[in-house]
Amino acid sequence: MEYAKTFSKLIGTGSFLPGQAITNLDLSKKLKKIGVSTSDEWINDRTGIKQRYFCDDDTTSTLGLKAAKIAIEDAGVSINEIDLVVVATTTPDSIFPSVACKIQGQLGIDKGAAFDVKAVCSGFAYALNICDLFIKSGQHSCALVIGAETLSDILNWQDRSTCVLFGDGAGAVVLKSSNKPGILKSILRADGKYANILRAPARVSQGNIIGNPFAEMDGKEVYRRAIDALTSNAQDVMSKAEIPITDIDWFIPHQANSRILNAVAKRLQISEDKLVNTVSNHANTSAASIPLAIDTARKDGRILHGDLILVQGVGGGLSWGSSLIRM
Ligand code: ACO
Repeated sequence: MEYAKTFSKLIGTGSFLPGQAITNLDLSKKLKKIGVSTSDEWINDRTGIKQRYFCDDDTTSTLGLKAAKIAIEDAGVSINEIDLVVVATTTPDSIFPSVACKIQGQLGIDKGAAFDVKAVCSGFAYALNICDLFIKSGQHSCALVIGAETLSDILNWQDRSTCVLFGDGAGAVVLKSSNKPGILKSILRADGKYANILRAPARVSQGNIIGNPFAEMDGKEVYRRAIDALTSNAQDVMSKAEIPITDIDWFIPHQANSRILNAVAKRLQISEDKLVNTVSNHANTSAASIPLAIDTARKDGRILHGDLILVQGVGGGLSWGSSLIRM
């Protein structure tokens, strides 16, 4: 007996940014008060970032919940249909339970599975691929995939080379089983040799915090590795899908900084008008950056039904991954 092939289709998106936009000038004034010197010019020239959002009362789960509700409404699915909730985050509300279980509970979903994925800035790429495979296997049929972060909680405000780069936010997508192709191909990669170039190394042991709980980064090394990883991963996924790079309608790499995005697009010979850049508006929101960018480009009318989009994550681990999606 032959079974119809199942795919997972991206049918809805949502995003949420907390509080008020904090411009580079606002941030530089705030940092000046604690003796840290930076400027709009430096941040903009080196990263393309113009502003970011930081939480006041929100947590990762409340940000994720708000983005999820918008995505569910956009998808037009009922809560009862969702049988998988996966949250990509580096900054969970607590050590446990998972952010995914908290959001699942808040949404009133009481069936299926819920869990978090930690692959830092590539978390959403990992979560999307996991949900795609769960749906293709037939075990689940409708997944809520969320990227949510409160990176501001783990920034060292004395370290100007990291604290100006990040922001808080959340994005979500709904994936549903379909007989029409949606997610066409994905490739995930990691290379733990580079675990130390980007990290927040603390752990809790015998009642004490051991090590630095704040983000540390070798900026130059991350810059080089991120460009190489994203470029080769894009080439690999396109070749596996047997689709030329010229067919891509929208290129959505992890929104780390504009120089990385532009360098990868240039190496892949993807024109700038196909590159979605939202990092200027919300800085690097780690695992939230891809769904935030997809939602932004859908809601402003750029991404249309039938478009081919390439999304890519890269971050701590070092970990990276790509998915080629027919919308
Ligand atoms: N404001 C003003 N000056 C600064 C700041 C700042 N916020 N930060 C660093 N500087 C100074 C440094 O102290 C240094 O001064 P010095 O020459 O007097 O010593 C000077 O600027 C140059 O510092 P570099 O570290 O060499 O700056 P670089 O050109 O490498 O740019 C940056 C730093 C923007 C972090 C770059 O390395 C980069 O983009 N790296 C990629 C990292 C990234 O995007 N990480 C995101 C997380 S990882 C991910 O998402 C993949």
